[in-house]
Amino acid sequence: MHKTIALFNHKGGVSKTTTTFNLSWMLAEKGFRVVMVDTDPQCNLTGLVMDYSQSIDLDNFYTTFPQQNIKAALAPAYESQPMLIDAIDCVEVPTRNGLFLVPGHINFSEYEVTLGVAQELSSSIQALRNVPGAFHYFINKVAKKYDADFVLIDMSPSLSSMNQNILVTSDYFLIPTAPDYFSVMAIESLATTLPKWVAWAHKAANSETLKTATYPFPDTKLKFIGTVIQRYRQRKKKPTVGFQNWFSEINTKVKGRLVPSLSQTQLLLDAATYENNTIKDTAYCLAQIPDFNTLITASQTHQTPVFALTDDMIGHTGVVLEQDINKKEEFHSIFSELATRIIGIVKDGESSLTI
Ligand SMILES: Nc1ncnc2c1ncn2[C@@H]1O[C@H](COP(=O)(O)OP(=O)(O)OP(=O)(O)O)[C@@H](O)[C@H]1O
Ligand SMILES: [Mg+2]
Repeated sequence: MHKTIALFNHKGGVSKTTTTFNLSWMLAEKGFRVVMVDTDPQCNLTGLVMDYSQSIDLDNFYTTFPQQNIKAALAPAYESQPMLIDAIDCVEVPTRNGLFLVPGHINFSEYEVTLGVAQELSSSIQALRNVPGAFHYFINKVAKKYDADFVLIDMSPSLSSMNQNILVTSDYFLIPTAPDYFSVMAIESLATTLPKWVAWAHKAANSETLKTATYPFPDTKLKFIGTVIQRYRQRKKKPTVGFQNWFSEINTKVKGRLVPSLSQTQLLLDAATYENNTIKDTAYCLAQIPDFNTLITASQTHQTPVFALTDDMIGHTGVVLEQDINKKEEFHSIFSELATRIIGIVKDGESSLTI
């Protein structure tokens, strides 16, 4: 059975999309089958994978393959079409076996209002009863079609109804953050918002209207998987002092504010699972990822994570190439370890859940 991992932070620009792509690739490199889902109307993940960086090209893709995107996939529920939601044909990442993409749609936010109304449990929602369970139903279909071990969901930077729906119907969530003041603030507000979302999800799962819908709304199984802190400068392979301070601030906020709030709402696995699978003394941090620096250009040009670039893709020679290969290897270790920690948490977490 697949596991769905949502990468969520309502703060923008904290490497959600980059981490979705890199982590999915690494999990596929380790032999797992992975479906990435682009639910952000910015379609950055879709652009990263398909090199459709200009919207005109995306328009072309939508015209040529009208069924192959998240919006078309959910249309039967959102546009009351007389057909059932089914899996779509994913885009296969040509240079990485076992890695697939459900492309995003730049107009996906058009469904936001409908979902917002459908999720108002107090109002009469008979006509919209099939909407809240639709995304979860689709994810199960597509995971089954591709025999996926993992589904990784890239989300938009907002506290929208769509994000609420995606998050509470996922199995796990990972919080990508950056070492700065605004990321500390964002963790504070997640500590307030997430319990409200989960309380809503329990109510929704118990609502007769949603239970008996064509796509029943599932009870939430959501668990916190941890944080990733990304994009900092190093000196002698260590974060500079300024960044080191932000790491501590983030870890303190996670431990002191987020975790107690998640604990009250049963969003945590048992303590040993985190202790055994996170960076020592960091409070739930799974990876600290420095700035990719010069490797980012080659990565984006070749739609390949920095750690999977070939010498040809890097494009340098001599000493510069050697330095780049060393950096690439460092990133390979970091992402390999991140993937291993996640696999560990899911494995240990599952066994503690079934006890
Ligand atoms: N480790 C890194 N080193 C250098 N650049 C990075 C790193 N991680 C992300 N970036 C760059 O930072 C920018 C923001 O990253 P990304 O798009 O992944 O963030 P996001 O959280 O998905 O943003 P949004 O909230 O807009 O969806 C991108 O240009 C990306 O290439
Ligand atoms: Mg993004």
